[in-house]
Amino acid sequence: MSAPSRSSSPFSPLAHVAEASAFADRVMTEDDIPAVLGMERQACPHPAHAWSEDNYRSSLRSGYWSRVLTQRDTGRIVGVCVAMDGFEEMHLLNIAVDKALHGAGLARGLLDTLYAFCRQVGVPLLWLEVRPSNERALGVYRRQGFVEVGVRKGYYPAPGGREDALVMRLDLTKRAAQP
Ligand SMILES: CC(C)(COP(=O)(O)OP(=O)(O)OC[C@H]1O[C@@H](n2cnc3c(N)ncnc32)[C@H](O)[C@@H]1OP(=O)(O)O)[C@@H](O)C(=O)NCCC(=O)NCCS
Repeated sequence: MSAPSRSSSPFSPLAHVAEASAFADRVMTEDDIPAVLGMERQACPHPAHAWSEDNYRSSLRSGYWSRVLTQRDTGRIVGVCVAMDGFEEMHLLNIAVDKALHGAGLARGLLDTLYAFCRQVGVPLLWLEVRPSNERALGVYRRQGFVEVGVRKGYYPAPGGREDALVMRLDLTKRAAQP
């Protein structure tokens, strides 16, 4: 598997979003971390569900596929997506969209960019874990074609204990590429 450049997106993200031209995605850097943390804490159903600064720093240092979505006119960060590549598979580690923009298709746009990257590097499978209580995220993943393939018991810390994770998988060979 050859490693393409991660510095710029050759894709046309958000092609389906009504006001797609208002947004642009780019590679995330360490300078973006404070803005991403603020955006994600607001977006999550519970602040404890959001990623920590350490999560982002270690992902960036590990060279994971990490992109932010920005508002073109202001540069404000309105989305983030991080994925780890493995042998013939990719693992979606985190995705979040500014709460004020939920339901506008921005997560779908970030995922389309990730699918395009997977296809570019010849990765057929995308995996993720999600809290069963995170109905919004579950809804997004199911509509994207992810299927539930297992449960990791007590995977996530949760208020008052631990919460299971649903393991989901998307077979990109069975999903049509977006135009
Ligand atoms: C999960 C999250 C990223 C979704 O972002 P979003 O930009 O609102 O999602 P989109 O608007 O792209 O929705 C994509 C699809 O899911 C659908 N959808 C959106 N909200 C939904 C909901 N509450 N229930 C079911 N489906 C929903 C949309 O209609 C859309 O469907 P379509 O592709 O058929 O049009 C966002 O809610 C978020 O940031 N949550 C906090 C962080 C988080 O929980 N991340 C997931 C960690 S596993």
